[in-house]
Amino acid sequence: MSERAPLVVVTGGAGFIGSHTVDRLLEQGARVVVLDNFSTGKRANLAAAIGRGGVLEIVTCDVSTGIFAALAPITAQHGPVDRIIHLAAQVSVIASIASPVVDGQINYGSTLHVLEYARAMGVKKVAFASSAAVYGDVSTFPVTEDLHCQPVSPYGIHKYASELALDYYAAVHGVAATPLRFFNVYGPRQDPSSPYSGVISIFADRARAGRDLLVFGDGGQTRDFVYVGDVARAVVAAAMSDSTSRVALNVGTGREITVLELARIVVELCGGRSAIQHAAPRAGEIVRSVAAVERAHTALGFRAEVALVDGLRATLA
Ligand SMILES: NC(=O)c1ccc[n+]([C@@H]2O[C@H](COP(=O)([O-])OP(=O)(O)OC[C@H]3O[C@@H](n4cnc5c(N)ncnc54)[C@H](O)[C@@H]3O)[C@@H](O)[C@H]2O)c1
Repeated sequence: MSERAPLVVVTGGAGFIGSHTVDRLLEQGARVVVLDNFSTGKRANLAAAIGRGGVLEIVTCDVSTGIFAALAPITAQHGPVDRIIHLAAQVSVIASIASPVVDGQINYGSTLHVLEYARAMGVKKVAFASSAAVYGDVSTFPVTEDLHCQPVSPYGIHKYASELALDYYAAVHGVAATPLRFFNVYGPRQDPSSPYSGVISIFADRARAGRDLLVFGDGGQTRDFVYVGDVARAVVAAAMSDSTSRVALNVGTGREITVLELARIVVELCGGRSAIQHAAPRAGEIVRSVAAVERAHTALGFRAEVALVDGLRATLA
């Protein structure tokens, strides 16, 4: 591999979305550095990446305490970092409500450390994993990026604060940066054992075992489920783009599906052995969610391509 291939740091690269992002970067010939504290990420998620050859450095690092020291030996060997994809986060909304200070230290603090590094080292681009959680309770659909953001959890607040920090570093320090607002991401390597994991990984896990699926309320709540391979494509496109546009981009499919319909499809794909049970609606649960996707298409040429049923098959495989 040429030493001139871009050197790309992926924080949270051992996680669900991070490991797919690493796979895609290596496919494209980039040299990749994973920074991860392995709090939820796993080395096993990187097994395919490790096996494929190319430059892949995996460094254990708590990004919320800074990244200069972790990257110093890497840059001494490989030269300067070209781009950073910042995915490392505490990903649970529920945990953020229980421990808002910790959430801020990890989710906002890590972003500041990444931006400080990018500013000091002249990194060409930072792509950041924001979330549809920045919008809060919205009443117009599909959800467009220029809606007023009013997050309703510490997790959403710290993602939005991170976006504001990106904008500040772009405006004041010239750090090119793109916030990507992920909708509901699903796919292989999502951890079903985590109580905070996406509904698809939980449904898939139960349906495969022939156990009943639990749907909260009538199941009429909708979500925009986007396949992780599509998300990795959007993330890499944003990181590799030399655009200095500061606007945030939704990453979703633009299509919504009810949780009940999703449960039915998952049960069918798993051989129809599970029943669907209903539980009391969850307080505060968002009733509808679907992304407007034109801005990401205009900015990055990105459209989600994987149909839900195909993504579900890959997830279940
Ligand atoms: N999965 C989704 O549907 C979704 C939706 C919106 C936004 N996001 C965002 O996408 C990103 C990736 O999420 P994911 O679903 O892959 O979750 P994940 O838990 O699999 O990945 C997070 C990764 O960050 C690492 N990490 C956590 N704290 C760290 C720290 N202080 N220092 C270094 N590494 C740390 C974890 O070990 C893990 O590898 C997160 O920023 C998350 O907030 C995910």
